[in-house]
Amino acid sequence: MKFFVDTANIEEIQELEATGLLDGVTTNPSLIAKTGNDFKETIASICKIVSGPVSAEVTATDSENMIIEGKRLGEIATNVCIKVPLTLDGLKACKSLSSEGFQVNVTLCFSPSQALLAAKAGATFISPFVGRLDDISIDGMGLIDEIMTIYSNYPDTLKTEVLVASVRHPLHVVEAAKLGADVITVPPKVLKMLVSHPLTDKGLASFLEDWEKTGQKIL
Ligand code: E4P
Repeated sequence: MKFFVDTANIEEIQELEATGLLDGVTTNPSLIAKTGNDFKETIASICKIVSGPVSAEVTATDSENMIIEGKRLGEIATNVCIKVPLTLDGLKACKSLSSEGFQVNVTLCFSPSQALLAAKAGATFISPFVGRLDDISIDGMGLIDEIMTIYSNYPDTLKTEVLVASVRHPLHVVEAAKLGADVITVPPKVLKMLVSHPLTDKGLASFLEDWEKTGQKIL
């Protein structure tokens, strides 16, 4: 399973890249707005830090301008993945951009039928938003299950990777992995939560206390 981080914050991306655990980055217009920085410069900086796909979202709503914007974003770096919304225009733009060899992430997916269309349009990634579904009492992980089943029924023609998005907590990550999702994009806070366990902290403290008593040093 690939791990992407869902942020446009350069310092956070640098910190996580240094762990060796990062396979890519997803951004969206809200995350860019939160940084207060220039969009294209931010994407260029992220692409220099991370070699995997970096999602940058178009803001036009008609396919013609989505394609123009997408190409402009694609010029920033070879690892830019153009993000388009799951609308009819977004799917048209996806078809055109993916046919030209660009990586495309179709975002704001909330139903299996939408995911099916994105795959037919040649999306590199489909981004179903599990947290936003859970927020309205619809089982987000159930959607991942349905998409995985649909895509696995057509392995020769539907090549789109399932990128689980809108992740709120470690359980989403574990459940997505159990379902065999290809990618998960997590906020930095959730990535850090995945590593912590109180028994690890307690056990380490007690090992170090006992080690101290021996008076020995490894180096
Ligand atoms: C995905 O690419 C989106 O940026 C993201 O996961 C949205 O998550 P949110 O629902 O926490 O805003």
